Amino acid sequence: MNKLISWLKRAAATGAAALAVASLQPVSAHAAPAPVVGGTRAAQGEFPFMVRLSMGCGGSLLTQQIVLTAAHCVNGSGNNTSITATAGVVDLQSTTGRVQVRSTKVLQAPGYNGTGKDWALIKLAQPINLPTLKIATTTQYNTGDFTVAGWGAAREGGAQQRYLLKATVPFVDDATCEASGGIYSDLVPGEEICAGFEEGGVDTCQGDSGGPMFRKDDTGAWIQVGIVSWGEGCARPDAPGVYTEVSTFATAITQAAATL
Ligand code: ARG
Repeated sequence: MNKLISWLKRAAATGAAALAVASLQPVSAHAAPAPVVGGTRAAQGEFPFMVRLSMGCGGSLLTQQIVLTAAHCVNGSGNNTSITATAGVVDLQSTTGRVQVRSTKVLQAPGYNGTGKDWALIKLAQPINLPTLKIATTTQYNTGDFTVAGWGAAREGGAQQRYLLKATVPFVDDATCEASGGIYSDLVPGEEICAGFEEGGVDTCQGDSGGPMFRKDDTGAWIQVGIVSWGEGCARPDAPGVYTEVSTFATAITQAAATL
């Protein structure tokens, strides 16, 4: 089952990559990439730390020169100049304010094997002069309502999006998430955090992977609590979105970033 999930996640990312190459053409359902379902358009500048990655994933600016994304969006660690990061725009086709920078290195979470630990860092060739998103270092913000955003599919099996979409999803506790049945028995409670509505309808989807799930902290600043990772389809009832639990890996992420 772990291998299946791993394959599903990889297939999603790969399908999204194929889409990106096809420059955001609508795709047939079998290609199955997916972003934010039940969302609305984000305003230009609303989430300035959001990054679109050329393999068809999302990401966030951890620093001006390092993007935090999902491990299943990358192939491994090492020098890598094949990824283009796009930031500064909600409209991927707008050249006004758009910043595109190549990768120099990728660091996939140590020990990543398709289950849990779904985080990775991408070092950029140049810094991007935009606000970064701070990561949660304790579990205190692993509750409440979260914002998710991405250029992924707006419905299960749907096309990648030209405009950044956003949505709000409520926290789902590990016991409830694990009890959703099927692949949810593979949840790694200490490493993953779930969010979504019992009735479905709002969720991240294929192509949103690697993007942040975030909320306001006590000072009113955005703080990242999750990384889009997986789910059974998108926005189905009793099938929450599963996100990497950022607070669990905050120390490892910060230490790894310092080595890039
Ligand atoms: N693995 C997907 C991707 O590569 C993300 C799926 C998120 N699914 C969900 N139901 N929340 O883009």
